[in-house]
Order: sequence, then structure tokens, then C-alpha cells
Amino acid sequence: MHISVLLDEVIDGLNLHDDSVVVDATLGYAGHSSEILKRIKRGCLYGIDQDGEAISHSKRQLSSIGDNFVLIKTNFINMKEQLAIHGVVEVDAILFDLGVSSPQLDTASRGFSYHQDARLDMRMNQDDETLDIFSAYEVVNNYSKEELTDIFFRYGEEKFSRQIADKIVTYRRNKPITTTLELVEIIKSAVPEKIKCQKHPAKKVFQAIRIEVNHELDILEESLQEALSLLAINGRLAVITFHSLEDRIVKNLFKKASSIDNVVKGMPLDKIPVKYLPKFKLVNNKAITPSAVELSKNNRAHSAKLRIIERIR
Ligand SMILES: C[S@@+](CC[C@H](N)C(=O)[O-])C[C@H]1O[C@@H](n2cnc3c(N)ncnc32)[C@H](O)[C@@H]1O
Repeated sequence: MHISVLLDEVIDGLNLHDDSVVVDATLGYAGHSSEILKRIKRGCLYGIDQDGEAISHSKRQLSSIGDNFVLIKTNFINMKEQLAIHGVVEVDAILFDLGVSSPQLDTASRGFSYHQDARLDMRMNQDDETLDIFSAYEVVNNYSKEELTDIFFRYGEEKFSRQIADKIVTYRRNKPITTTLELVEIIKSAVPEKIKCQKHPAKKVFQAIRIEVNHELDILEESLQEALSLLAINGRLAVITFHSLEDRIVKNLFKKASSIDNVVKGMPLDKIPVKYLPKFKLVNNKAITPSAVELSKNNRAHSAKLRIIERIR
């Protein structure tokens, strides 16, 4: 079961109307989308996910609420061109709820979990059955020690990146690393005893590999830019992130989009030509985080941050 994070805050923040056209760029199990659909009786919801199982489940779920929705199985980097195919060039609200869903994590065979044994996989899009499959297995077994150190450090902010990469490379000289728990044991052997008692020692490395396999950070900024370019005046974009690397990308992009152009910085506001005024304003200056009540009910909400921006001209 997936419990949607910051559900009330997202629904309030998207400023929905009966006839809103809305895009849920990370449909998942349609938790947010179900609440959105209930509020847009004369509008339309476009739900995007690259995971076929998420699309099938959501289709059944949303059909019990209404029929004014279209589901598109694709990577959200393709959002603009896919919406154009459906004749949509402007929308009133867009939501990104990044990362993986609980069903993805809980299905052992997907290989996302460091608690359950499975083949190293971690692909969100499982359709690629060609010989060129790129999954966690390829990252762990084919990347050089330097490449592994770099992704563990950059995408996991892992302090023991070098030591872990070193152990991986030594281990795989004898045999390939094929399963999640095999990798967990190698990671455990590389980190000091006292670290093992704190957070799960494999958490950051698994996050880093997942980001690498799914190119998560590479596509985020470009996808958010595309999302901003789709917003109608008064339209809103809401983004929920789950780690500091994603949040930094969202924060910086939103700050830039809502700032006055450098060319006219320092000029009195009423003298600045309209073309240099920002097209967007931040709806909340600081990121919205889950309430104590939500945190007590949903462990996954702990690192969540919500940022919302509105097109004003
Ligand atoms: C956290 S879940 C969304 C949960 C959803 N908001 C709900 O309440 O049920 C994130 C979803 O986004 C999808 N996803 C992540 N990155 C994606 C991408 N680049 N393109 C398309 N879907 C993506 C994942 O497959 C997953 O189903």
C-alpha cells in the first residue's frame, strides 16, 4: 500500500478548480491523482508514469471516480511532447512526487530494497528487455572503482564511498555480484561498526545506484523547465522531493524563475520593462514539510519537502 505524502498540502497548494487541466507527472498508485480527479469534474487529468504496473493499477482506481482522465506510460522528460499529441499545450496544475512508490519498494523482485533479497535491478521502467539492459547489476559489476566512488559520493552523499567501492571491486574479481543482499553484506564489510548501528548502512549506496540507473537527477531540471513552460497564467507547479540533491535542484530552479533578470537588478520596480519581470512567484518561501501527525503515520514522509511555484504573467 502506498500512502501519499503531503496529500492535503498538495491539494490545497495546486489551487484546483472544477475545470482545471492537471498533469500528475508521477502518477504512482494514483493517491494524489484520486483526490485531484474528485475536484475537477469538468476538467481533465493527465497521469504520467514510466512504470506499467502503476499505470494499470491507477486506471482501475481512477475509473471508479470519473472518466475525465488520460494515462500515459512514459518518462516525464517526454511530458510536453506527449501532451501535445493529446492537443494540450497549456495546463493549470502540475505535480511531481519524486522517487519510488511503496509497491515498487515492497516488491522484492524489483531490487530496490536492501531488506529483501532479489536480483540487482532497480529499473523503474521494466520494459527494456533488450540485451542492452542497464540496471543496478551493470552499475555494480561494470563501473570502475572511481566511477562507483563518484556516484556513491555524489548521489548518496556517502562518507565511505571509496571504501565501499574498493570492497565491491575486490569481491567481483572472484564472482559477479548478483543480488541485493550480497551487495548489502559487501557494504557492511566496508563501513565502521558504529555506523552500522545508526542508519541502515546500505541506504545511501542503494539510493545512489537507483538515481544512476534511472538517470533521476539528469532529467529532473530539464523536466521541471518543461513543466514551467506548460503552465497557464495562475497555473501552479508543485514538487515533492525526498533527498537534498533533488530539493537543491528544485529550490535553485524556482529561485531563478521567480527572480528579476540581472540586467535590471537595482532598478525601481515600476521602471522595469515587463519582459524583465519574473513570470513566476514562489507560493511558499520555505519548503513545506509533513506535520507531526503525518510523520507518526507514514515513515516514508520523513525527508519529504514540498515546493510550489505559480505563473503570474
Ligand atoms: C512516489 S511515487 C508517486 C506516488 C503517487 N503520488 C501516489 O500518491 O500514489 C513516484 C512514481 O513516479 C514514477 N516516476 C519516477 N520517476 C519517473 C520518471 N522520470 N518518469 C515517469 N515516472 C517516474 C515512479 O515509477 C513512481 O510510480
